[in-house]
Amino acid sequence: MIHDTIFFFSKSDKAIWNQELVPADKDYIDTFFDQYDPGRKERYQRLSLSAGGLSGGGYRYEYKGVTTLWRCPIETLKKHDEAGRLHWPKKAGGVPRLKKYESEHEGVPIQDLWTDISKIHNQSAELTGYATQKPEALLERIIKASSNEGDLVADFFCGSGTTAAVAEKLGRKWICTDLGKFGIHTTRKRLISVQREKKVAEQDFRAFEVLNLGRYERQAYLNVGGRLTGKQKEQALSQKENEFRELILRAYKATGFGGTEGAPAQDGFFHRARNGRLVVIGPINLPVGRLFVEEVITECRKRGASRVDVLAFEFEMGLFPAVLEEARSKGIDLAPKYIPAEVFDKRAVDKGQVVFHDVSFVEATPRHDKKNKLAVRIELSDFSVYYTQGAAEAAIAAMKEGKSDVLCEQGQLYKVSKSKEGIVKKEKLTRHWTDWVDYWAVDFDYMSRKEIIKVPVRSGLGGVASLPGFEPPQGALAMEFEERWTGGYIFENEWQSFRTRQNRDLELTTAQHTYDRPGRYTVAVKVIDIFGNDTMTLVPMNVG
Ligand SMILES: C[S@@+](CC[C@H](N)C(=O)[O-])C[C@H]1O[C@@H](n2cnc3c(N)ncnc32)[C@H](O)[C@@H]1O
Repeated sequence: MIHDTIFFFSKSDKAIWNQELVPADKDYIDTFFDQYDPGRKERYQRLSLSAGGLSGGGYRYEYKGVTTLWRCPIETLKKHDEAGRLHWPKKAGGVPRLKKYESEHEGVPIQDLWTDISKIHNQSAELTGYATQKPEALLERIIKASSNEGDLVADFFCGSGTTAAVAEKLGRKWICTDLGKFGIHTTRKRLISVQREKKVAEQDFRAFEVLNLGRYERQAYLNVGGRLTGKQKEQALSQKENEFRELILRAYKATGFGGTEGAPAQDGFFHRARNGRLVVIGPINLPVGRLFVEEVITECRKRGASRVDVLAFEFEMGLFPAVLEEARSKGIDLAPKYIPAEVFDKRAVDKGQVVFHDVSFVEATPRHDKKNKLAVRIELSDFSVYYTQGAAEAAIAAMKEGKSDVLCEQGQLYKVSKSKEGIVKKEKLTRHWTDWVDYWAVDFDYMSRKEIIKVPVRSGLGGVASLPGFEPPQGALAMEFEERWTGGYIFENEWQSFRTRQNRDLELTTAQHTYDRPGRYTVAVKVIDIFGNDTMTLVPMNVG
């Protein structure tokens, strides 16, 4: 039989191991439950009542003419006898045994070949559509065996989130990561469904947060570490940054200015070009802000260029749509694009599968209650995705015959296909802006939860250097940690609406939220589009 092997590792001997039991098979029952009790009409097995050979002694006394070293005191033995639980051997003077009925059998310890769990198939109720999804029963067995309620379970390759879903159902805390956007998207929706099920069943559930660790990953990627002098460090860092930019440009399929791939980069400001547009990468460790965009506009005008793509990991909040309009008024078509975390996945870059998403724009409007001054509902009033003028035409031209692709144009999504005969068909997939929204969530008091991280005390290092992926300071042995605010906040899903396969409807106004006291609050509204990209907007408002 072909099978996989699951290893059980432990850092200390304090590891948890809860023996999992499974019902015994028929052969086992037939062999060991070989007696029949006509009174109870049930089979039973005979357990030894003798303590002979056991460590820790026993109780020596005489009972009904039998003297031996018993396992239990005489009072307990008498109770067993009164309950008809003693099986007396036919041979005179034989030591009686204790009856254990078939219905009392807890099962046998699970063995190392698990054939009682069926794999996920297309009729499974738990199916998420994630290709490598594992059955919940499998994770349930592993989690129960190796943790107790309230413990923390982690899965760093979570895929569709089976581990997290089962951990949540079993009352464990959990942390999950995945480098794929689809995995995170599937996991997030799955966990919200679990929360809903628990809510309906009036059980407690935990709030959770999706964090984009791209920032830490970037810093880890650019870590130069080692015992370098200041100057060497600077050189090594600049080399790493160049390599990193190359990786991003390769993933974006940008070409040299002359149009050939691999042609020399850098014209002093712009990095490359693509489809007749200049390409520039924003600062790697900072969000792109107004100053950088203004610089891009100036540099475009110097070169007489009118079309540019700005690639960045983060854009400052509130930058759009104002700067795009400003650029347009100066004759520049500026397309901001998010660099996705997949650029760290070399295989995806090599296969040309990395998709750079357009920046979206969310508009949310508070609707104050006329009677209750502390109550408000939030309406999602608009969501749009910026598109690149002409990108559709360029993509159609580059498309191989017989292929189809999904494109975004003028805020709409089209499926474009080219037949073998070269005929291009364009089919509109999104009829209304709401078709873009897969899920949206609201935090009614966003700035009330600061994002706190733990950093080594007295390390002399800033928050950046002490983030994961960086080496601890030289000579630091037992490190002490202190808490530090990152300057960010934790988004908590206080209300959300999303489509499911069964129910495609999306509510566009939240349930009423009532604040405890009057004041100024910042509502955060997060929209997750059908590609799994997050866009957040902050709505400051006065209540009361
Ligand atoms: C076999 S799947 C996990 C399936 C999961 N057990 C479930 O039930 O859905 C492996 C996952 O690991 C992710 N992955 C691969 N390399 C990774 C990395 N270096 N860091 C984080 N996730 C990674 C993949 O994106 C994929 O979703």
